[in-house]
Amino acid sequence: MCGIVGYVGTNKAVPYLIEGLSKLEYRGYDSAGIAVNIGGAVKVIKAKGRLSNLERIVDMDMDTVLGIGHTRWATHGAPSDVNAHPHTNSNETIAVIHNGIIENYMEIKDWLINDKKCVFKSETDTEVIAHLIDYYYDGDLMSAVRKAADRMEGAYAIGVIAKDEPDRLVAVRKDSPLIVGLGVNENFIASDIPALLKYTRDILLIENDEFVDLSKDKVTIYNSLGQEQKREIYKVTWDIDAAEKEGFEHFTLKEIFEQPKGVRETLFRRLNAEDDLAMEGIRLTADELKNINKIYIVACGTAYHAGLVGRRAIEAFAKIPVECDVASEFRYRDPFIDERTLFIAVSQSGETLDTLQSLREAKRKGARVLSIVNVVGSSVARESDDLFYTWAGPEIGVASTKAFTTQLIAFYLIAMHFGRMNGKLTEEEFKTTITEMKTLPEKVTEVLAKSEEIQKLAAKQFNNEKVFFMGRGVDSDLAMEASLKLKEISYINSFAIPAGELKHGTIALIEDETFVVALATQDRLYDKMLSNIKEVKARGAHVFAIAKEGHLQIDKTADEVFYIPNTSDALAPLLAIIPMQLFAYYVSTLRGNDVDKPRNLAKSVTVE
Ligand code: AGP
Repeated sequence: MCGIVGYVGTNKAVPYLIEGLSKLEYRGYDSAGIAVNIGGAVKVIKAKGRLSNLERIVDMDMDTVLGIGHTRWATHGAPSDVNAHPHTNSNETIAVIHNGIIENYMEIKDWLINDKKCVFKSETDTEVIAHLIDYYYDGDLMSAVRKAADRMEGAYAIGVIAKDEPDRLVAVRKDSPLIVGLGVNENFIASDIPALLKYTRDILLIENDEFVDLSKDKVTIYNSLGQEQKREIYKVTWDIDAAEKEGFEHFTLKEIFEQPKGVRETLFRRLNAEDDLAMEGIRLTADELKNINKIYIVACGTAYHAGLVGRRAIEAFAKIPVECDVASEFRYRDPFIDERTLFIAVSQSGETLDTLQSLREAKRKGARVLSIVNVVGSSVARESDDLFYTWAGPEIGVASTKAFTTQLIAFYLIAMHFGRMNGKLTEEEFKTTITEMKTLPEKVTEVLAKSEEIQKLAAKQFNNEKVFFMGRGVDSDLAMEASLKLKEISYINSFAIPAGELKHGTIALIEDETFVVALATQDRLYDKMLSNIKEVKARGAHVFAIAKEGHLQIDKTADEVFYIPNTSDALAPLLAIIPMQLFAYYVSTLRGNDVDKPRNLAKSVTVE
């Protein structure tokens, strides 16, 4: 997704703009640009492709203290120099950067062209904003931005500068992320915290429909009515290393290896000295839970797959019926939602627009909203009734890894919390499960210690152009996550099937040397999985299986087996996904891909 940065202060603006954009590259982009107010004019410099292409044509020492910068993930108009942001009005007195989509941009563009004789250079919706602000501009940039925003529909985080206001940066937020950084005689805007960490830890979280007026020594926030808003300063506690690679070749590998810490942090912050649950942030009471007759888990991508595992945990521990749906479908199938519905949103970034819009729909229909989120203060977090933060730390690699395992911890704890509240989980069952959960960080470390086995497997299989994943029970859900990991960073055509479905069609695709990954961690479905492995092997498949230690029979059935430490069926997915993450990572590097920033993808999809 696009990244935006802005600077107004007393230091040179360009170094911050470029540094800030470099910290937002992980969001995914295909062009980059900056605009600065210099010598009484607005100067725009932009380039298609990587940020390094822009750096090559920018003078870092430009004598300017006001500027905006942008990394563009193309929505309207192909990646090109012309379509790159920032965009300006015809006489280049206004420059704009934008993350999001202006739904009614064509209608406004037609009016600007036909009635106001504006001349457009690009195919983008963003250029419309520049002309619209110029149309309303009468010497007060904030006033012009507010009038333009009244005309625009859609999602946007916008930064704007003007030729005649060399000490003023204006920003506005609607459904796309925007934060403000507070410095000494300098202030910043950005899409996300990593862009600011080098300069300030004092952040203002901007709410929806808020406008921000920044100068070098003052920041004022207004609501849509023009009323000034007070805002607590949020102190960022991340250490800068947490957002750096710390010696790993890629963020993705670093984050795979950070999972023991993420699992431990997420679990132990929710246990008190007596190993009882400390579920602050989840205010739902036992009486309110009793009134809930339907739970929806709604998310996208990896977060959705965590939801599939979470669904089984809640049904197992709390005996409440749960539906799990992808957010992009949920809203459009007119789901049955009322005051007796609990809507659980799962999102690492907390800014995925599909998930956010589904959450808003559920709230509008009276549902209670509980969210599992990794980014503190994100939109999903701020719009929820109950909140469970995962403590995975910043996840920079586009492929979600440590967020997934910490989301599973969240679901296990929430499921047990519910089961204890409604009496469906005995104290003995609770204590047994908590005791086993406390061994997970160590067991994750044991799995990671065997990463070389996976590296060798990847070396044999990285040239495959199709890979199947299959499993039964929760392993069929996990197969979907394993397949997504491989697809999104290796670009191999892969898919996941419930193993029992093989004979209903898919087995027609199995031929000599077809590579099949069989997830066989569920004790009560183990024998069934052995049969499925035999079925595909009988058609020539090469089978790599994942099983729990001690299940040796599979050694005689599959071609290769990776053993995970023994644990319960319910908790096994948290360990079984690790070798799958590693497999995707090593295959991707062997195929020469940009692992952290795979093609066409963004870390946070803030468009629908
Ligand atoms: C997963 O590896 C992908 N990056 C993607 O599917 C991601 O999980 C999805 O876009 C949801 O993102 P979120 O968790 O930030 O909402």
